[in-house]
Amino acid sequence: MTKDKTAILIVDDSPDTREMIRRHLSLHYPVVLTAGNVDDAIEVLQNQEFQLVITDLKMPGASGLELVQYVRENFHNTGLMMVTGYATIEGAVEAMKQGVGEYLPKPFTGEELLSLVDKEIKKVKKRQSLESETAASGKYGLIGCSEPLQEIFRVIEKASRTSATVLITGESGTGKELVTRAIHYQSKRSSAPFVPINCTAIPQELLESELFGYVKGAFTGAETSRAGFFQTADGGTIFLDEIAEMSLMMQSKLLRVIQEKEVYMVGSRKPAAVNVRIISATNKNLRNQVEAGLFREDLYYRLNVINIELPPLRKRGNDILLLINHFLRKHSLDMGTKLPALPENTLNLLQNYPWPGNVRELDNLIQRLVVMHNGESIKPADLPEYMKKTSNMPQNSLQRTLAEMENDYIKKVLEQTGNNKSEAARILGIDRKTLRSKLD
Ligand SMILES: Nc1ncnc2c1ncn2[C@@H]1O[C@H](COP(=O)(O)OP(=O)(O)OP(=O)(O)O)[C@@H](O)[C@H]1O
Ligand SMILES: [Mg+2]
Repeated sequence: MTKDKTAILIVDDSPDTREMIRRHLSLHYPVVLTAGNVDDAIEVLQNQEFQLVITDLKMPGASGLELVQYVRENFHNTGLMMVTGYATIEGAVEAMKQGVGEYLPKPFTGEELLSLVDKEIKKVKKRQSLESETAASGKYGLIGCSEPLQEIFRVIEKASRTSATVLITGESGTGKELVTRAIHYQSKRSSAPFVPINCTAIPQELLESELFGYVKGAFTGAETSRAGFFQTADGGTIFLDEIAEMSLMMQSKLLRVIQEKEVYMVGSRKPAAVNVRIISATNKNLRNQVEAGLFREDLYYRLNVINIELPPLRKRGNDILLLINHFLRKHSLDMGTKLPALPENTLNLLQNYPWPGNVRELDNLIQRLVVMHNGESIKPADLPEYMKKTSNMPQNSLQRTLAEMENDYIKKVLEQTGNNKSEAARILGIDRKTLRSKLD
């Protein structure tokens, strides 16, 4: 939306005030219309889109407050401003609660008027551009348009066109499962089953029969034959979550399945062909696990034909804003509450927080805030204590790694303790040995 298209509606019962505002604004904005009462205003609003409505509070007939409610319910992207006499400031405060962005007490100068209008129009534009970005980037339910995420979208597309194995790595809560589903549902396999398995949720000794099934009499209690997840997923995709936790014995059996494209049900010597795509995920560094002898190197290469490394949230720049907006809407809608407002200073705190729990942590926090603040404004004080402590961090902390932040923090604590390592270790909640190794 350029300034050229900005349309403003002025609603006031006094022709003098109406005219005075109109004269000032029409010097700067191309479309400035007026209405003398709420009914007329609603009629005008139904025929044209406005970026801003400026209304008086007390008018004969319906009041400005009713107009505010009407605009909020029907045009959530339109900004609202209220002009009011001293006697009605209390009403104006009520109006702010209802979603009026700015209010201007009478009498006012043309300059005051223009600066407030400008401020409100800017807010409206920012909201609109955030919204259109969110809509444009909601591919596969994955919100974000930062460079690292664009790259992820490209790999998802590439991976969807093949049946190659995919290994997805990334910190907890970065969207590994979401990406896996995206690949499956984009691929030719989308009409066949998607079967997710968490390798830690099933005891290792049961994993084999769960994955490959068993035949009658394979073990005590096996009264009938039962198919495993691989058979269920035939033609589709199996998702092996937390693959790093799989026992070495199961790893070798899985390797065989990948190599031979067939499974042996427990208790059977007859192989059965399966056509299953394997996507696995872990928040551990699987390379290190290989080096430590905990993960088979040959399996690692077999699983890792396509690699997707999901960046932590703190490295996704403005995606944080898009995600906040997305979760605010989603949870308000889900819970039937009003959309709360997030003022600039609250947003700053959220942007500067390092989000160790990534998107899941952000999702959970926003959900809690939506529940507790039903349509009200969320102030910095409403955020959890540990988030406020990051307020004096530099603005660009989002671009920094956790290691860099840790480094800075350790340095600060050392300075504060006059380089007393025992004291510093105590404050940091680590032992001296750990501190020493970090200093190295
Ligand atoms: N880019 C995104 N856009 C929208 N929602 C997201 C995005 N990334 C993750 N989420 C949401 O965050 C939550 C965590 O995502 P997911 O379960 O895929 O993470 P994960 O990497 O598998 O985590 P873990 O390692 O803990 O298993 C989910 O509710 C998911 O829908
Ligand atoms: Mg997961």
